[in-house]
Amino acid sequence: MKKKSENTLGQNIFRLRKAMHMTQETLAAQLNISTQAVSKWETGQAIPDTLLLPIIAATLDTSVDMLIGFVPNYAGLSPYEQRYRTDGFYWGIKPNALAQEVLKLTYPTRPMKLLEIGCGEGRDAVFFARNGFEVTALDVTEAGLEKARLLAEANNVHVRYFQADLKHFRINENYDVIYSSGVIHHILPEWRNELFEDYREHTVPGGFNAFNVFVQKPYIPVPPDSDGDDDTWYSGELLRLYADWYVPVFQEKEFECSSGNTPHSHCMNILIARKPE
Ligand SMILES: C[S@@+](CC[C@H](N)C(=O)[O-])C[C@H]1O[C@@H](n2cnc3c(N)ncnc32)[C@H](O)[C@@H]1O
Repeated sequence: MKKKSENTLGQNIFRLRKAMHMTQETLAAQLNISTQAVSKWETGQAIPDTLLLPIIAATLDTSVDMLIGFVPNYAGLSPYEQRYRTDGFYWGIKPNALAQEVLKLTYPTRPMKLLEIGCGEGRDAVFFARNGFEVTALDVTEAGLEKARLLAEANNVHVRYFQADLKHFRINENYDVIYSSGVIHHILPEWRNELFEDYREHTVPGGFNAFNVFVQKPYIPVPPDSDGDDDTWYSGELLRLYADWYVPVFQEKEFECSSGNTPHSHCMNILIARKPE
């Protein structure tokens, strides 16, 4: 006899289809296949073609990992997992200044897709969704994403959140905006070219990439609350990755900070770049 767990994929398709109030017929029509095929998957009599999995996942607003029931071990990948388990919102719910800058440059007067990398507890993802963007956002922490979902719910907006490690995540659709605040110091030097090529390539012509990152200055000591896995970015390194795009915003800012209760200084590069049409 077939064990129930053997049809995780079919059960997930069934569950997610129902959650999206879709009939087998609607899903089949969207996938351009027969209703009978969907029925066979859901009852475990057949499984979808591998190449169809990303399309099914996108249609059901999920990831291929979630669809096939793969649970990678993300624990310990981010020091923020524990911080997000405490009460309240660790970073607050007010959007970052960078998110507000992006909105000034690219207000969604037509449906616009935005991807946020390292959304934490969702303050920027929700801000963009409230301002009319169709938002997809990832983070490596489970606790951050739980709070992010609650924040979206409380604000009556839909954000497509999913758990992923940015090191392994590769984009499979194009976005009008790719955005990340306070995160890319986690991108080690040896991954930078490949990951940024992926971000650039998956931005629509005329679309934007927006990032900020702490940069090293020889006269500024390493901050006391620096994450263990931080890796140095050099002043101007981010700008160099966008040398062939328009750059409406590039700033280098030095500022004082008292996080961790020890006063210290930071230097940050802030970039918003626009892909040529
Ligand atoms: C300083 S927080 C910023 C969070 C959010 N962008 C904000 O401003 O509120 C950095 C975020 O990067 C996430 N992060 C760290 N390493 C990551 C990785 N390898 N993949 C995906 N997210 C990661 C952390 O979980 C954390 O939420």
